[in-house]
Amino acid sequence: MKYAVITGASRGLGEAIAKRLIQEQIAVISVSRTENEELKKLAITNDLYYQHYSCNLSLEKEVQEVFMEISHRIFLKNPEEILLFNNAGMIEPIHTVGELDQTPILRNIKVNLVAPILITNIFLKKASITNSSIQIVNISSGAATRAIEGWSVYCSAKAGLNMFTQTTALEQAELKTKNKIITFSPGIMDTKMQETIRSSSKESFKDLEIFKEYKENGKLLSADLVAGALVDLVLCGKAESGRTYHISDLIN
Ligand SMILES: NC(=O)c1ccc[n+]([C@@H]2O[C@H](COP(=O)([O-])OP(=O)(O)OC[C@H]3O[C@@H](n4cnc5c(N)ncnc54)[C@H](OP(=O)(O)O)[C@@H]3O)[C@@H](O)[C@H]2O)c1
Repeated sequence: MKYAVITGASRGLGEAIAKRLIQEQIAVISVSRTENEELKKLAITNDLYYQHYSCNLSLEKEVQEVFMEISHRIFLKNPEEILLFNNAGMIEPIHTVGELDQTPILRNIKVNLVAPILITNIFLKKASITNSSIQIVNISSGAATRAIEGWSVYCSAKAGLNMFTQTTALEQAELKTKNKIITFSPGIMDTKMQETIRSSSKESFKDLEIFKEYKENGKLLSADLVAGALVDLVLCGKAESGRTYHISDLIN
């Protein structure tokens, strides 16, 4: 049996990934602060293992405890393969550097960068002492490689995630494991994160009007479409470890 662990499955892209995986008969472990009841019902309907863990990913002690528990439980099941989606993310704080407050800066870096590093470290350690292999998908952003005024913290965290992924992939290749790790840039999707972006102020975010127009002109991608393309890539077994995949590589 395959098991998928998805952070941020309560809504948006994470929820869409979870739904698609359940349709593929893959057991799902969801991690976020709130539970998505629809996912639970869908798993029950499909007679599949599903478990939600409540975890605030900005609290490193909680991340360590919850993911030690999750990895212990999954690896005990001797799974055919483990899929780990480090998907949870946050855009705030949106401000010019000099106007930023310390607490939101730290929260952003912890959720977007520190948590995926801690989780990947726990899972690869467990994998090294068992026979199971893991595919890890770190959800990145175009903002990892393109500076966007007002988003300095988010851009920095996602750039760090890209480099962490590339470094880990090199190490796994050197160790000759079957584990793979990729980054995925999902494009601009119609999720709550975009609502947060549109509700920021023009003073703190120069491109505000452009992002409002994306919504008004129907330019935002649906999370279901993006999740479908990503899950197809992961399940086909041909993803190249260390690579960054963009949604535009996967759909026309
Ligand atoms: N939307 C876009 O246009 C876009 C573009 C490029 C990249 N991305 C990336 O795509 C991924 C998914 O984003 P989305 O658009 O689906 O965002 P979203 O709708 O805002 O969902 C964010 C998810 O992250 C979880 N999360 C946030 N903070 C958390 C915390 N402290 N602890 C635990 N979970 C937390 C939320 O769960 P709870 O609130 O229940 O905890 C939620 O499930 C993110 O990594 C984002 O950076 C999005």
